[in-house]
Amino acid sequence: MTTKSMGTITVDETVRQSILSRLSGYRYTHTLGCERAARQLALRFGYDPERAGFAALLHDITKRLSKEEQLYLCEKYDIIPCDIERREWKMLHGRTAAAIAATEYYADAEICEAIACHTTGRANMTLLDKIIYLADYIEDTRDFDGVERARELAQIDLDQTLLYCFNSSLTDLIARNKLIHADTVAARNWIIGKR
Ligand SMILES: [Fe+2]
Ligand SMILES: [Fe+2]
Repeated sequence: MTTKSMGTITVDETVRQSILSRLSGYRYTHTLGCERAARQLALRFGYDPERAGFAALLHDITKRLSKEEQLYLCEKYDIIPCDIERREWKMLHGRTAAAIAATEYYADAEICEAIACHTTGRANMTLLDKIIYLADYIEDTRDFDGVERARELAQIDLDQTLLYCFNSSLTDLIARNKLIHADTVAARNWIIGKR
């Protein structure tokens, strides 16, 4: 399998520590878990582990921010939230993290897009999109019904794992009468359509 990426990168220790210093508590541990899982998935499915690790380190960098701060970043970086993102504003952290990744850490477009869609998925997900979405879902500190099954599937097939994760997430959202983002529906339809 060939490595599909926009170019190799080296994340030096200073950059890594700068990113980690902006995270605390559970988010710090989760991010390290996500970095580990992303590197493993990258190695298993033929992607550059450095790039996957860098995207994972950055994926939740704005998660701690308040609604006002998220909306401020949207304004600043020309991000237009959809109706669902306005109501479920925590979803915005993927898109705002991608903006910070680009402007403060010079992450390229492929990495930023994977960060931006890590909460919802999207149609036509790239290999890196899949790796980051799944690393976030299955990393070691995650502990919820179905996570073991997702980890098992992730040893074998990324698309099968994604379908399992989308189905689980959507079932959970429906059970809790929560809004469903159109990109998640599009992502699931896309996975099913290409089988
Ligand atoms: Fe996140
Ligand atoms: Fe996360």
